[in-house]
Amino acid sequence: MNPFDTMESGNARSASSDLPIDLQVQSRLVDIGRLVSLPNTTFRLLNLLMSENTSAKDLQQVMEQDPGLTAKVISLSNSSIYSVRNPVSTIDRAITIIGFKELEIIALGIGLTETFDLRKVPPGFDGRALWLHSLAVSWIGRELAVATGAADPGEAMIGGLLHELGLIILVSKFPIHFNQLLDLINSGQTLQDAETALSLRHEIIGYHLARNWGLPKVFQEVILYHHFPQSSPVNTKLTSIISLADNLAHRSGYGIGIESVSIDLPNILGILDLKIDKLQQLIKDILTAIPKVEQMWTQLLNGSKPAQKAGGRLSTKFS
Ligand SMILES: [Fe+2]
Ligand SMILES: [Fe+2]
Repeated sequence: MNPFDTMESGNARSASSDLPIDLQVQSRLVDIGRLVSLPNTTFRLLNLLMSENTSAKDLQQVMEQDPGLTAKVISLSNSSIYSVRNPVSTIDRAITIIGFKELEIIALGIGLTETFDLRKVPPGFDGRALWLHSLAVSWIGRELAVATGAADPGEAMIGGLLHELGLIILVSKFPIHFNQLLDLINSGQTLQDAETALSLRHEIIGYHLARNWGLPKVFQEVILYHHFPQSSPVNTKLTSIISLADNLAHRSGYGIGIESVSIDLPNILGILDLKIDKLQQLIKDILTAIPKVEQMWTQLLNGSKPAQKAGGRLSTKFS
């Protein structure tokens, strides 16, 4: 049982209100590692995606151990998105049809949704938008990593998917606290101010969960510094990629309503040695790819007709 959910918020705060903010957060997070665990398949997928030499065969072998995931992926490959002539019945053919790159992100995302069901979220928050945002940042992050050579594309993909881990756990596991945040935001506060007031900074919460799970330090750092990449001590380039991808996702209609993302673009372009005209070309490519990822995701989650294209509003111009 989640101790935060059964605790009166006033008691929860007064018990630790004399502590510095970081320690208050830590005192609330001490049990997170025990409360939440990732499915085995998801851990194995994480490891696969971190390896440069992962093949379609490797992906197939991991996915086939998870019958639920296998069924979803085969169903997706038979959906109207792909218009296959002969019904698909095996994972290896599904990988060929859907695409290896797309399936890596989607499979990992599906694993995470088994742990964090964002369809049951507090009223007033769009859980689907949070997953789509994570997928979009994952995709954009990988494209930026490939284009700049500044970070490993697999790490960028995973970092993008996990960067809002703290928000994901707040929304899905701590509804009382998340509702308090929403109340402050609805009264005019920014997410950052509301989180600070309640000692619930999502970067810190995500960091603690990642650490408790034993995720590699590189992802702990991305999660902790994704809004302040210049402060990222070791993996500054990767964190900058995720921060830029985060901003681009918001600007392209794949944002989270409660969070606005501002970045120091000249500084980040300098860190990544990325020219603005190259970034603008990348944005065009992103606009083509992301709606397809959204379609796949919707189909997998709902087993229904994909939603109409929601993104594609990103301007290539920076002002
Ligand atoms: Fe964030
Ligand atoms: Fe984000």
